[in-house]
Amino acid sequence: MIKRLFLCALACITFATATADEGMWLPNNIKSRIKEMRKMGFKLKADDIYSDDKASLKDAVVQFGGGCTGEFISPDGLLITNHHCGYSSIQKLSSVEHDYLTDGFWAMSRSEELPVPGLTVTLLVKMEDVTARIAAGENEATIIEEAKKKHNADKASIEPIYYGNQKVLYVYRTFRDVRLVGAPPSSIGKFGGDTDNWVWPRHTGDFSIFRVYADADNEPAEYSENNVPYHPARHFKVSTKGVEEGDFTMIYGFPGNTQEYVTADAVEYVAEVSNPMKIALRTIRLDIISEAQSKDVATRIAYAAKHANIANAWKKWQGESLGLGKLGTVEKKKEYEKAFAAWAADKPQYANLLDSMHAAYKEVIPHYFARELFNESILGMEFFNFAYWFHIYDAAGHKLTADKQAEARKTYLNDYRKEIDHAISRRMLSEYIARMPKENVPAPLVAAIKEHGTPEAFVDYMFANTRILTEYPLTREKYIADPMVQFAGWFADALAHNRKYAYRNLSNVPAIEKWYRTYMQALREWDKERAFYPDANFTLRVAYGTVTGYENADGEYHTHLTTLDGIIAKDNPEIYDYDIPQSLRDIYKNKDYGRWAIGKNGKQSVPVCFLASNHTTGGNSGSPVLNGKGELVGINFDRTWRSTMSDIEFDPTICRNISVDIRYVLFVVDRIGGAGYLLEEMGIK
Ligand code: ARG
Ligand code: GLU
Repeated sequence: MIKRLFLCALACITFATATADEGMWLPNNIKSRIKEMRKMGFKLKADDIYSDDKASLKDAVVQFGGGCTGEFISPDGLLITNHHCGYSSIQKLSSVEHDYLTDGFWAMSRSEELPVPGLTVTLLVKMEDVTARIAAGENEATIIEEAKKKHNADKASIEPIYYGNQKVLYVYRTFRDVRLVGAPPSSIGKFGGDTDNWVWPRHTGDFSIFRVYADADNEPAEYSENNVPYHPARHFKVSTKGVEEGDFTMIYGFPGNTQEYVTADAVEYVAEVSNPMKIALRTIRLDIISEAQSKDVATRIAYAAKHANIANAWKKWQGESLGLGKLGTVEKKKEYEKAFAAWAADKPQYANLLDSMHAAYKEVIPHYFARELFNESILGMEFFNFAYWFHIYDAAGHKLTADKQAEARKTYLNDYRKEIDHAISRRMLSEYIARMPKENVPAPLVAAIKEHGTPEAFVDYMFANTRILTEYPLTREKYIADPMVQFAGWFADALAHNRKYAYRNLSNVPAIEKWYRTYMQALREWDKERAFYPDANFTLRVAYGTVTGYENADGEYHTHLTTLDGIIAKDNPEIYDYDIPQSLRDIYKNKDYGRWAIGKNGKQSVPVCFLASNHTTGGNSGSPVLNGKGELVGINFDRTWRSTMSDIEFDPTICRNISVDIRYVLFVVDRIGGAGYLLEEMGIK
């Protein structure tokens, strides 16, 4: 008994109560948090955040392009998100003559706004807890179809919450006429690049501006010249008042993926098995790419987006593993589970639960790891997907015409450098062989490596003899016999096997996930003090916290606000990530800040980014950061490096989200872009 109490004292202190700042809450159920939010400085009511009956803040928030968040900032459909969220759209619209990525873009009138083919924004029309309806026997597909009809919506789904203990219906409308209005030059929008990514102090003007168009009835429509700006039911008022340490902040957006309730087995896998493997393999790829980039400007540009993509998760995983280690999450979870098991021992429905989960992990982990290793090593070879395209379409009986080959080349060999891929492939195949259990390696590959001596020698052979990278179009005879196409074909079975384990996280593989529904139920019965919030799953959520710095290391406090002074301190025309536009240098030199000046250490500067304690994750990029009155004070775009473990355990003392201060956005629009008319549209006088 004493032992049990002791265990609980240890474990329950850590997980028992969600701290004020922790959690990503369902907007339609925010009533349960509103008292605490108001205590922290929120001035509005629950139905101002979400309402089925009247316009509410939720009508001003959209999912932007599938993976980000955006928000309306004018009655005429003006929409703001991050620069990194608009990046691929801006790139698509750019050419050598009009390089909007480098130079920025500002429409000086509505007729100059640029339609972005394929870009969509999705607005949540309604959400509803349908758990009881489903339990009463209603059919999910019928519920979805009825909701779509009733709300004149093109998209609806029922999402499991708390591993399916709750089912929530989401109804959406998709807007397909979205136009680029403004973007700063990358030297502002991407300032600091991968060097500063996941890091504070930060100085990135990470925003871009779009406009949503609708038909004459304000309904979503395909692009048409006749479309008119969409009038949202609600837009955010932009506040120029700024933020102070201790101010209430709220984030309203679409966070993608967290796993706060997983057991020690899952955390151990992430921190000690999966992340280290992925980090090691990506380090190799990034080193090879960076070296090639440093030698040639064209290569630097060609591989910029690829490098950024590989590096973003690579850096996050390092912070995450480090953070989980520092927090001792695995040990804490083990203690927590011990205490739980003691409680569950005399309850037949729960007594064997942890054992079953443990067994399921043991069974699934080797398969899940094999898939992750395959993805990082074999799929790290750029040629692979192109070679596999020949194999799989030919095997399915398709005729690979010259046109189709041309299209595939464009898709798979985009900005391709054979020397880089060759160097990477040598290392990736050798890592794959060294790390993959023998029984998973395709037999023909084993034979080929034996014949050539080493994995590297076999890769050299492939690169010396392939035609798919250099000849076009290829006859069937040639591509069938091509060494790269054959190599890709050897993995067909492995790919089919991997597909069975292709879930967001290890714990979402059905053989494991099925236990979590019961586990969540049991936790809620047992751990009555703990405030449970559902894991992120790309549905709309509210997070709240305060503007605040943090102690980064002993004696090293990071304050909540950065300014233009920090940009100037980093400015260096020799370093690509820190080379700012001359116009910004001039403004600084003349201290010509006008209305955007704030006092700092007895001098004047311009605010740039700020920190807050909101619980956020990937997908929250572009989310509105709101003050107590529900006004826009910033745009969320990142977390600090030491916060990256918050997808698994949130530590309120150091977890911070990073936002670009809306005053910096307005300063850039006005003074760098010369697009002051947009400020008027936002109602700023
Ligand atoms: N770390 C942020 C996120 O996870 C920003 C990524 C874009 N910026 C970059 N330098 N790669 O998406
Ligand atoms: N940059 C991330 C995104 O694109 C948000 C940062 C995070 O993971 O918190 O959604």
